Amino acid sequence: MSTPARPGPFHVLVLGSGVAGLSAAVRLAGPAHDGVAAPSLGVLTKGALSQSATRWAQGGVAAVLGGDEDSTDLHLADTLAAGAGLCDEEAVRILVDEGPGRVHELITLGVEFDREATGLLALAREGGHSRPRVVHAGGAATGAEVERALVDATYRTASAVLEGWFALDLVIEGGRCVGVSALPPHGPVVEVRADHVVLATGGAGQLFSVTTNPPESTGDGVAMALRAGVSTADVEFVQFHPTALHHPAMPRPLLSEALRGHGALLRDGAGQQFVDELAPRDVVSRAMAARMAEQGTDHLWLDATGLERFPQRFPTIAASLSSIGLDPETDWLPIAPAAHHLSGGVVTDLWGATALPGLWAIGEVACTGVHGANRLASNSLLEGMVFGARLAERIASSHHEPEASGALRAVLGGVPLNGIGCTTLADAPRRWAAGSGTASDIAKLRDSLQRAMTGGAGVVRSAASLDAAAEGVADVVAALGDRTASVAAGELGNLVQLADALLASARTRTETRGAHARSDHPATDAAWRRRLVHGGLPVDGAPVDGGPAR
Ligand code: SIN
Repeated sequence: MSTPARPGPFHVLVLGSGVAGLSAAVRLAGPAHDGVAAPSLGVLTKGALSQSATRWAQGGVAAVLGGDEDSTDLHLADTLAAGAGLCDEEAVRILVDEGPGRVHELITLGVEFDREATGLLALAREGGHSRPRVVHAGGAATGAEVERALVDATYRTASAVLEGWFALDLVIEGGRCVGVSALPPHGPVVEVRADHVVLATGGAGQLFSVTTNPPESTGDGVAMALRAGVSTADVEFVQFHPTALHHPAMPRPLLSEALRGHGALLRDGAGQQFVDELAPRDVVSRAMAARMAEQGTDHLWLDATGLERFPQRFPTIAASLSSIGLDPETDWLPIAPAAHHLSGGVVTDLWGATALPGLWAIGEVACTGVHGANRLASNSLLEGMVFGARLAERIASSHHEPEASGALRAVLGGVPLNGIGCTTLADAPRRWAAGSGTASDIAKLRDSLQRAMTGGAGVVRSAASLDAAAEGVADVVAALGDRTASVAAGELGNLVQLADALLASARTRTETRGAHARSDHPATDAAWRRRLVHGGLPVDGAPVDGGPAR
């Protein structure tokens, strides 16, 4: 497929190529029906189509696919419990009810999930799940297998695949998103126009020095929305995965939660167990941070020596361990928490529509309300496939206006569901899409930003640590100059934009809830059962500084 110098206009332009974006793309493109060609669809991505965080996802897809003991009600209850009071129950109901159908569609598309000797799908259990319900592929190579099938299908069906294109900012005309400005692989910035622009740009693990996310996870979509004043929420809730391998490789190799689901144990420096291995991730990561602080160490241990047939069940993890001389059948594995998933993002309704007509968001970039304050394990590939499909259905219909449902309910003034309130924060400065500097300056500044965020806004935060992080970010801002469009500079601008928003939310939320832990406010406070929103309109009063509107 050749790429025109000025591609578009498209009916739909999808930004990003992970499970969410491609689940939408394969539905929106497709062959001609009755001689009528499908509306034009472009997929724009800053790397290669297959180069997304999805391919790193290990554990799997949580979905109730059978088994007498399980039910979607239980999956709903587990998701709500992990989300610590901030899930939109209607969004979660959709997630758990529509998930099984999406998994079956992937199987039809050619995804090969692992099966028992009987031929039935093999189901794993992970933290926070009351039942085994996680389907997986290649042991713990689920994302790579899902991505393979979706990438193949997208190449076959999309009108244009723009690889190596970096989206800089939204183009807004007459109160509507009509495209993006973008940096092609070679040449000056151009506008790519579309009737519908879909943010599917993933998460932002690169805000931190230690992350399981690939280098591309720089929060680009959330930053673009923040700069345009489109509502974003829950960005203070960054999930740290407890069992990243403590090793210099970056992204940090993940030791899937499925290992704990199969019986692997967490041990401290003295070899003692100290937390329920199958508690939700926020609980486990906090317990690890506390134990590491007590013992003055930077890592703990995962003991998988009791697992049978480790290399056969988890071949990818076994190969990665073997490459650094570790044998999980005999060695305890060094581990420490690493930034893994952004639970919040661009606020959407139950169909992926944002507050800005023409702009949609799906997957990790979005805040649909399904994750609340802490995502349940293996609900993220699921979210991408469920909401990617819903978005495609909605765009294909004649209902395109954002509605007061899901997380967008609060922002658009709908009746709050289950008492979840909304507080709009004062606008953070709108940062630039790109800064000047040489590539090495930019790499150094990115490193400084990551160190500031890791030191001050990691697993456990306090007013003092967040202030220190804000100072570190301000130093990075001071070192940046004028606009110069380059991918590295644009990514740094996006990281700074999101860091500002995250720190503002984290400083405002003076409680501990889900993935946001404050050592100076260790209790959960019912008054903070509200979304902290940047941009858009508050549902119940003027912006509040410092405390919740009670
Ligand atoms: C894992 O396999 O532990 C990661 C899966 C997820 O992030 O949900």
